[in-house]
Amino acid sequence: MIGIISAMQEEIQALLDNLHNITITEKGKRKYYSGILFNKEVVLVFSRWGKVASAATTTQLINDFDLKEIIFTGVAGAIQPHLNIGDVVIGKNLYQHDLNAQPFYDKFEIPILKKKYLKAKEHSQLLSSTTFFLNEYFEFIDKSEAQEFNITHPKVIHGDIASGDQFISSKEKIAYLNSELPSTLCVEMEGAAVAQVCYEYNVPFSIIRIISDKANDNAEIDFSRFANTVASNYALGILKNYLV
Ligand code: ADE
Repeated sequence: MIGIISAMQEEIQALLDNLHNITITEKGKRKYYSGILFNKEVVLVFSRWGKVASAATTTQLINDFDLKEIIFTGVAGAIQPHLNIGDVVIGKNLYQHDLNAQPFYDKFEIPILKKKYLKAKEHSQLLSSTTFFLNEYFEFIDKSEAQEFNITHPKVIHGDIASGDQFISSKEKIAYLNSELPSTLCVEMEGAAVAQVCYEYNVPFSIIRIISDKANDNAEIDFSRFANTVASNYALGILKNYLV
């Protein structure tokens, strides 16, 4: 089966609403919803925010369910000017921007693993599912939703993502990330933790990130509302195309 994780309940609500034959397993203060989504066997869970929460969830998923892949879907802050709210980043290499065990290891290097980033699954199928969804986005969703968040011509980009246990909302922090990890397109708080656990257990993974803010002074949008409307509908639209 396929494991699907989101950091917020709101982000997977649309997927949960489309899940059939549901069985709920409760562990570690989380509910794992297994069932059938668009004719595929899946297990859905919301991890809560941050690297520890998402690593614990990923480990539990891998140990308790027979998974062939894991997909993480959620929101992220863009740190490159050409990205806009409503764009989608499909993760290529996942970095932990808050990891620094100098002088024992290089900055960002994961101790023992000898890697500064982990590679996501090869993504042509997910990229084309996302492109397909975005092309029909304005028919698929309520137009007021796009208007409210100023979404005009959403695009998909395959590129690097950096994760850390910090909500980024300053120009200084963006400048630091641009100089230290120049290939990074967006920041979030879980992807690289999911990546590390999946790497250690040899499970292919994908990270889908919908840009919700530009990691600057205006980053505190109404997350719950964005997650509930845009992010949740994107997750449903993208995964519908990917799973069938
Ligand atoms: N998730 C969404 N926006 C974010 C930001 N600005 N920083 C970290 N995680 C995020």
